[in-house]
Amino acid sequence: MAQFSGNDGRSLTYTSSATREPSAESLARLLASARSFNAGLDVTGLLIYRHGTFLQTIEGASTAIDPVFDRIRRDASHAEISVLHDGKVQQRVFPQWAMMNDSELGVSLLRIFLGTALARSPREVTLEQRSMIRSMMNMLDEPLLVDT
Ligand SMILES: Cc1cc2nc3c(=O)[nH]c(=O)nc-3n(C[C@H](O)[C@H](O)[C@H](O)COP(=O)(O)O)c2cc1C
Repeated sequence: MAQFSGNDGRSLTYTSSATREPSAESLARLLASARSFNAGLDVTGLLIYRHGTFLQTIEGASTAIDPVFDRIRRDASHAEISVLHDGKVQQRVFPQWAMMNDSELGVSLLRIFLGTALARSPREVTLEQRSMIRSMMNMLDEPLLVDT
């Protein structure tokens, strides 16, 4: 299904700190721009934002990840980028999304989707991918709004 040909699949997950609170509009613009660039390189992934922190996974051919991550790193809307995992994978977890976000898909649908991905066999989903999926699920459990 989401199998990479040969041994060429790579997945990179990082967290970063927003340099200022992104508005819904700026997040939507970011997603649109990310999508068109990623689609051109057949890169897929998921981006979650909660309380000043981004958590993102990008997956694709090894050579496609570098230009996408370069673009991500150059964006001044975040800083303190910290790579949690960058390595080979057999299959994509997010084959259908050039870039998805929970505000678009909805938190409950995304939870179901991630739970299904976790249930896939160890041959399909590596330990690092499982750990990434759990981090995504934990982040989704954070409330969207902070009490003031
Ligand atoms: C948290 C975060 C995630 C991003 N993800 C992607 C991405 O997946 N793909 C991409 O090409 N750019 C990504 N970017 C970069 C922005 O899409 C892009 O640099 C910015 O929107 C400017 O785009 P423009 O040159 O089309 O104006 C990301 C930026 C941030 C801050």
